[in-house]
Amino acid sequence: MSDPFRWGILSTADIGRRLIHAIRQSRNGEVIAVASRERTRAERWAAEHAIPRVFGSYDELLRSKAVDGVYLPLPNALHAEWTIRALEAGYPVLCEKPIAATASGAEQVRAASARTGLLVAEAFMYRFHPVFERVRALIRDGAIGTVSTIFSRFTFLLDDRAVNVTSAELAGGALRDVGCYCVNVARLLTGLEPLRVSAFERRSTVDDTVVALLDFPNGVLAQCETSIANFERHRVEVAGTTGAIVLEQPWVPGEGATGFTLHRSGKPVDWVAVPGANAYQQQVEHFVDVVQGRARARWGMDDAVANMRVLDAIAASARDGRVVELGG
Ligand SMILES: NC(=O)c1ccc[n+]([C@@H]2O[C@H](COP(=O)([O-])OP(=O)(O)OC[C@H]3O[C@@H](n4cnc5c(N)ncnc54)[C@H](OP(=O)(O)O)[C@@H]3O)[C@@H](O)[C@H]2O)c1
Repeated sequence: MSDPFRWGILSTADIGRRLIHAIRQSRNGEVIAVASRERTRAERWAAEHAIPRVFGSYDELLRSKAVDGVYLPLPNALHAEWTIRALEAGYPVLCEKPIAATASGAEQVRAASARTGLLVAEAFMYRFHPVFERVRALIRDGAIGTVSTIFSRFTFLLDDRAVNVTSAELAGGALRDVGCYCVNVARLLTGLEPLRVSAFERRSTVDDTVVALLDFPNGVLAQCETSIANFERHRVEVAGTTGAIVLEQPWVPGEGATGFTLHRSGKPVDWVAVPGANAYQQQVEHFVDVVQGRARARWGMDDAVANMRVLDAIAASARDGRVVELGG
């Protein structure tokens, strides 16, 4: 058994709280350091979360050799730059979604990961929840016939207009903040890349609401609806020739008992129960297992680059009012 993996966290981001909880629940890691642009903020954060080491800058943490790897929950515009810096300092990185602000940024991260031989994972935690194993198995087994459409929605009302999500400079916006999940799940469930996309948006400082259509080479049409200016709604619906699967809680399926509905022609609607799990915990445990050689990465940088290519294509389609070809 290896020693517990020593995690360092770059920044005092809000989402860090969930990851600290997940790492503490995990069988193979511990949180030993936090860095902030301001030492006093890092000190307050460390005291609140009982983290033993504090650094007054991200560079200081990267130079310290005090950790085995880094969790990086910075604003989107800083993901690629700091992931590459962390790799070059010798650390594997779990980077928050989206992996970069653009596909070209994601490609630079992929190149740095290959050059250094160090793991980079994009923190789409939802896909580690066992609910998606069940959904994928049912689709594979033909429970709903031939899949023809996938609908995914992730919307919420961001009432504090000052936060990073509304900053164009920090690469905020609905598409990068939550639309990335909708695209990711369509790619996950088809196992394919779309040939072309078409999208419309409503903007303020950033894209507030985006609706996109993805045309997959196996004939599946996926519709992605995302917003930071709407009532909060989460949904994934997969429809096939003989049935449909509906997930009301796809993005955070939760630690309590969960599940989804299975609709089939001529049969009563079934509730498919799935035991709860902490997807954040599954994600960090898997990351450490890969770094320590006990597992192969389930999703690598090729997947992260491909997701960003679709996000870029959606943004271009919405901006220019045209269908954008991706070539599959
Ligand atoms: N997986 C999930 O469930 C999930 C949920 C929410 C968000 N996220 C992702 O996690 C990332 C962080 O989101 P968040 O909402 O938690 O962030 P947040 O609370 O706004 O914090 C971001 C942190 O980045 C640091 N930072 C560095 N440069 C900055 C700059 N120029 N402006 C503002 N902050 C700067 C700040 O920490 P210091 O000042 O301490 O350095 C700040 O606290 C995003 O990429 C987001 O997409 C993921």
